[in-house]
Amino acid sequence: MEQAISYERIPTIIYSNSDDASRAVAQEIAAIIRKKALDGQPAILGLATGSTPKKVYAELIRMHKEEGLSFQNVVTYNLDEYYPMEPDAVQSYVRFMREQLFDHIDIPKGNWHVPDGTLPLEKVADFCRDYEAQIERYGGLDFQLLGIGRNGHIGFNEPGSLINSKTRLMTLDLTTRVDAAGDFGGLANVSKKAITMGIQKIMQAKRVVLLAWGEHKAQNVAKAVEGAVTADVPASCLQLHENASFMIDTAAAAQLTRMKTPWLVDSVNWDKAMIKKAVINLALEVKKPVLKLTNSDYNENGLSDLLALYGQAYDINIEVFNNLQHTITGWPGGKPNADDSNRPERAYPNKKKVLIFSPHPDDDIISMGGTFQRLHDQGHEVHVAYQTSGNIAVADDEALRFAEFVIDFNSSFEANNPVANRVYKEAVRFLKNKKDSEVDIAEVREIKGLIRRGEAKNTCRYVGIPKEQIHFLDLPFYETGMVQKKPLSEEDIQIVANLIDEVQPHQIYAAGDLADPHGTHKVCLDAIMEAVHRLKHREFMSNCWVWLYKGAWQEWDIDQIEMAVPMSPDQVLKKRYGIFKHQSQKDGVPFQGTDAREFWQRAEDRNQNTAAIYNQLGLAEYEAMEAFVRWRF
Ligand code: F6R
Repeated sequence: MEQAISYERIPTIIYSNSDDASRAVAQEIAAIIRKKALDGQPAILGLATGSTPKKVYAELIRMHKEEGLSFQNVVTYNLDEYYPMEPDAVQSYVRFMREQLFDHIDIPKGNWHVPDGTLPLEKVADFCRDYEAQIERYGGLDFQLLGIGRNGHIGFNEPGSLINSKTRLMTLDLTTRVDAAGDFGGLANVSKKAITMGIQKIMQAKRVVLLAWGEHKAQNVAKAVEGAVTADVPASCLQLHENASFMIDTAAAAQLTRMKTPWLVDSVNWDKAMIKKAVINLALEVKKPVLKLTNSDYNENGLSDLLALYGQAYDINIEVFNNLQHTITGWPGGKPNADDSNRPERAYPNKKKVLIFSPHPDDDIISMGGTFQRLHDQGHEVHVAYQTSGNIAVADDEALRFAEFVIDFNSSFEANNPVANRVYKEAVRFLKNKKDSEVDIAEVREIKGLIRRGEAKNTCRYVGIPKEQIHFLDLPFYETGMVQKKPLSEEDIQIVANLIDEVQPHQIYAAGDLADPHGTHKVCLDAIMEAVHRLKHREFMSNCWVWLYKGAWQEWDIDQIEMAVPMSPDQVLKKRYGIFKHQSQKDGVPFQGTDAREFWQRAEDRNQNTAAIYNQLGLAEYEAMEAFVRWRF
């Protein structure tokens, strides 16, 4: 994509995905290394950790192995390290860098540096001064790689950090600690401090590239790129750097003006999707229903081009209104014997085979419980595939309760099953002595997985789905016992493809978290997309439509929605009780994040909000709505 014309104060390149962006950055780094090697000089690199740069490091390793890229002349300084922190701890950035890069390339020992988290407090200040002095002796950093925190931090320079800040011990922000909670096995265990390179050294680097992926970064990317330079958003300092760029994916770019309201930046191609986006944006902006928008509303809000195309507001309004109206259906599997030319789904076949993929055992009911129920009630053959065991999200005391129950049950009924008892006793012993952030042993994971399996079965029973139509896939990529998962493997894809082949569905529902490159949902979706691609030439696939629901916390933007399934107050309540079947996910879960609401509350807020926006736009007033986008493979 081309660079924007205005609004943006830092050169920003938007890539369609994080893979392409990571490859481009890796190539830029490799070019510096090669050029410096030719000149007989060291290449001094500033490196970052976190989820963002992993693919850059993987690409550098690939270049080393396949293209002979040598790191003999490379010297690196990492941005930060938690304090205190032992270098071999799972959360340590020393360990991260070794695992992600250093142990796989030929960088000489002693050439890489990560702030030392083992120092006594009184030695930290000297260490920080020396860290900067070393960089200065090399003439500064040739290249600095950055990520951005959800709060706009760079390195661990939290909001409030000044542009001339030095390398120092920093108290971590709550947002930063919440984001790290997964790695530490809960917020309470996350380090409160970190040693971070100051913004001054970052600003002195000859070239700076900041990477960002995913919609959770979009807000602060926009503030950093388009807002004022302020210590409240430390990344905004980069506006003052002469050679800094942002390389981001489309999800992280979503809040930039050129993405949100592109017609304000440049002339746009007024296709149907763009018109819908502009009109909905306008209606919400001026707080009017679509059918009440006037010529002056269009003219005064940067949409005179569009108005000129149609001549009068009325014609645009009616077109968009009808389009919105046609997305609404109470028949998500298609309405039998009805004219379907303006309906989101086909009328035929009347009875469809439906395959709902649920990344975790509760996403089906949370994200599309109303639609799930309707599909079943309207006579379709609904299958549900639970893609992962979801075992890491079960609290220890919950697992302990179940394990003890089995032991007590066995002893009181003398139905002693020695093998099962051994497993459960081992689990109890482990759980009673478990240290913070210790990874669960296989026996405990098994119990936690069974707990979630039981809950999912319970939901299906409640909806009315027979046993044969419930499929537990337990995809192997998930089974690490940690937040960090394995990459998607051939085995994962095969499992998904086999099930699609077995069911031969007319409809597939999948969690469409297209953006987040790290989470379980994205990996689950990748598995489905790859499986669908492999099967797409099969006869049955020509009759198969794939609908994406938003699995995680967000909802689709209104202009993207292609099917909106309304719910009555009773249906909302029925869905709530369906979510309650997931008792291990109630009253707080191990990875709660900043949102204290329970899953049923989040689901209801989200569905009610969608209905409220439709109503604001002038469509009928529903209690709640679930939303879907079609993936045309
Ligand atoms: C890491 C660092 C941080 C991260 C930022 C984003 O060394 O300095 O600024 O770059 O917190 O983290 P991820 O990439 O995990 O979203």
